[in-house]
Amino acid sequence: MHYDLLLLGGTVIDGSGAPRVPADVGIADGRIAAIGDLTAAQALRTFDVTGLIVAPGFIDSHAHDDFAVLETPAMPFKALQGVTTVVNGNCGLSLAPLVRQGEVPAPLNLLGDAYRYPTFAAYRAAIDAADPAVNVVAMVGHSTLRVRHMGALDRAATDAEIEAMRADVAQALEEGAIGVSSGTFYPPAAAASEAEIIAVAAPLRERGGVYATHMRDEGDQIVPAIEESLRIGAALKVPVIISHHKLVGQANHGRSAETLALLRQAARHQDLCLDCYPYAASSTMLRPERIALCDRIMITWSAPHPEVSGRDLHDIAAEWACTPHEAAVRLQPGGAVYFIMSEDDVQRILAFPETMVGSDGLSKDARPHPRLWGTFPRVLGHYARDVGLFSLEAAVHKMSGLTALKFGLADRGAVRVGAVADLAIFDAAQVASPATFESPAEPPIGIRHVLLGGRFTVQDGALTGVRGGRYLASALVAAAR
Ligand code: ZN
Ligand code: CU
Repeated sequence: MHYDLLLLGGTVIDGSGAPRVPADVGIADGRIAAIGDLTAAQALRTFDVTGLIVAPGFIDSHAHDDFAVLETPAMPFKALQGVTTVVNGNCGLSLAPLVRQGEVPAPLNLLGDAYRYPTFAAYRAAIDAADPAVNVVAMVGHSTLRVRHMGALDRAATDAEIEAMRADVAQALEEGAIGVSSGTFYPPAAAASEAEIIAVAAPLRERGGVYATHMRDEGDQIVPAIEESLRIGAALKVPVIISHHKLVGQANHGRSAETLALLRQAARHQDLCLDCYPYAASSTMLRPERIALCDRIMITWSAPHPEVSGRDLHDIAAEWACTPHEAAVRLQPGGAVYFIMSEDDVQRILAFPETMVGSDGLSKDARPHPRLWGTFPRVLGHYARDVGLFSLEAAVHKMSGLTALKFGLADRGAVRVGAVADLAIFDAAQVASPATFESPAEPPIGIRHVLLGGRFTVQDGALTGVRGGRYLASALVAAAR
């Protein structure tokens, strides 16, 4: 056997959760061709990875990089973390299918405002043409479809509108979408009923795919919200993904014990999983009604007042001699970081066996939540190594093998002979994220090399300029090509 590349002297964590093994890795034609002692093998190039972990490239199970992969195809904030695939179209928000000039209603504007893809196929073709540094899959977003087919959004959809949205879902699945997401938490879909979502997402029943949900409520009413999500998944006969599971508001802190028990019970009867980012603060559009639930709110961006980016809402209100609520109203449209969760819940949810790591990062923010640059190294360095919340093998599983399984990404998320050579190579002793809420755009430490299809996209912690990411098909979706 003659290899294109030999990675020599590393320790393999294969993404399945299995214990690490010292092994060389041989790569040929973009795939892993051999794992073991390959010191005597022939290769075009040998590369020393002594002392480093060779893991599957990470899959960001919850991304909002729908525009980013087109506008910033170098994708430094993900590639430098070891991410080789992003899952877009979360929270009911997808770039396609929608053509809209200028302003789109929040939170669709979290992605950007150049909605120009009339079909999912057009979006998919744009990704391949952009040649990003990560692979991409995407769901189709229910809120995007509502904006496409309805005028006023503060009402239930009519039968004709549901039929139009359902036809879009069927076509998007045919064109490679890997599922449907909804976001009834947000204004554009808050008036949508459970029945509407089931009817719109009905093509999932024949074609397969996943149903991901930013639930109606993550606070006092979280249990009914989980129950609704589970009923929708059961009606559609597809896996349910509870997005960025968390409990907001002090009155609900600690209740992850209750929600995870409910989910553990449900998992006996239906396929479900969660995603979670490793921080006790959330970030999304600025919503004045959320203020009371938070210990602290940091403004990330504001269209009318860009100068306040990074400042505390309460300080702005004091300076303006008004209430924080009034200040928030004046700052709209904008984005904010909400210090709204408890660390205990974050840890309990992250450690749950069915929880995948997902960043939920928003790259458009002038001052993004640090999860955009730091999610994966923080789980590896802070939660696995420093806190000891789980083993490094479990951490890698939650960001590769588990995620590939849940989204049907065959031949990804594994260091296995035959799998595509998407790899993250890191120093387990050093890996960390220096990104903070004050200084969020800090590249990770200790993620040394990243390979996409056997080519280095990152070497010695820096982008190489090689990209080569493509839109991937999901084995869960029958018609995906
Ligand atoms: Zn969300
Ligand atoms: Cu999200």
